[in-house]
Amino acid sequence: MVRAHKEEVLSVEGLEVVYKTERGPVRAVRGVDLSVREGEILGLVGESGCGKSATLLSIMGLLPPTGRIVAGKIRVGGVDVMALSKKELRSLRGNTVAMVFQDPMSSLNPAHKIGAQMREALEVHGQPYSKDILVRLLQEVGIPSPETVLGYYPHQLSGGMQQRVMIAIALSCRPRLILADEPTTALDVTIEAQILDLLRQINRERGTAIVLVTHNLAVASQFCDRIAVMYAGQIVEEGNVNEVLSNPLHPYTQGLIGCIPRFQKGVPLTPIPGQVADLSEDFVGCAFYPRCRKRDASCATSPQELVHTGTRRVRCHRYGYVEYTETVAGQDWGNE
Ligand SMILES: Nc1ncnc2c1ncn2[C@@H]1O[C@H](COP(=O)(O)OP(=O)(O)O)[C@@H](O)[C@H]1O
Ligand SMILES: [Mg+2]
Repeated sequence: MVRAHKEEVLSVEGLEVVYKTERGPVRAVRGVDLSVREGEILGLVGESGCGKSATLLSIMGLLPPTGRIVAGKIRVGGVDVMALSKKELRSLRGNTVAMVFQDPMSSLNPAHKIGAQMREALEVHGQPYSKDILVRLLQEVGIPSPETVLGYYPHQLSGGMQQRVMIAIALSCRPRLILADEPTTALDVTIEAQILDLLRQINRERGTAIVLVTHNLAVASQFCDRIAVMYAGQIVEEGNVNEVLSNPLHPYTQGLIGCIPRFQKGVPLTPIPGQVADLSEDFVGCAFYPRCRKRDASCATSPQELVHTGTRRVRCHRYGYVEYTETVAGQDWGNE
């Protein structure tokens, strides 16, 4: 199917983020480029500590005071985020781009009723906030008895319902882009599937673009159109989700796929050896080199560029030589 040209809602170029810490600077993001178009779902995957959250927080202008963007450009809906005043940024957040975090309880105020918190969110963005509007917003995210729920405190709701409230708040200003940072990690698997279904329904019905951060490649495979795999603050592979999962080019992507449980096939899991790279360090060659099963001697010393190959981007000079057959043979990674 040939798709009509869709507008770019997010563009990140050469993003670099540094955190100030007692141990010295942590270079959390090291030159990330991303582009997301209307209606698209991009998965940002990788182990914990690879710079996924730092990337999303930068886009939202929500880095903590110790974090700083030291290089790069970020455009949301064509607007240069870094040129905005605090007030303009606040208006962009919510109106164009909204974020959903891992732990809804840390975003909801435990002392205020749901209705009051939703009203406040709408008020901040200059939106009308009658009771009817709040009820409709809760209905849209599948919350039963919305009128009753408006009078509840957050702790009276289950984790899944809390996350639905957060999504309702995120949607209340009709954003063009939702950034979801591990939105289901704290939930049971059945609830996780429901929340992902809800996000996908929003994507389909409204054309809202979504960036989903997850350390779970199986989740990404079900949910995303494209995935970008991050390691040590860099994108190491990016492409159409089915292509990446059926024929991963980067050894790190191959390693992540080897960690997905496939009990039914009786194939043992193959963990990636070693620890995630320490981002307070600098790397001369490939950051994944110490853990890589496919390395050669030059990997320790040659910096790796992200190169285009077909519809894919990959950061490994050996990708063309590496025959990949171990873990994915016979797997059906159909998107649905
Ligand atoms: N507030 C912070 N202060 C200092 N270092 C941080 C902070 N947040 C994250 N980091 C560091 O930045 C790196 C990337 O972290 P993060 O973006 O949270 O990764 P991910 O979301 O992929 O797990 C890690 O080395 C982490 O320890
Ligand atoms: Mg994170």
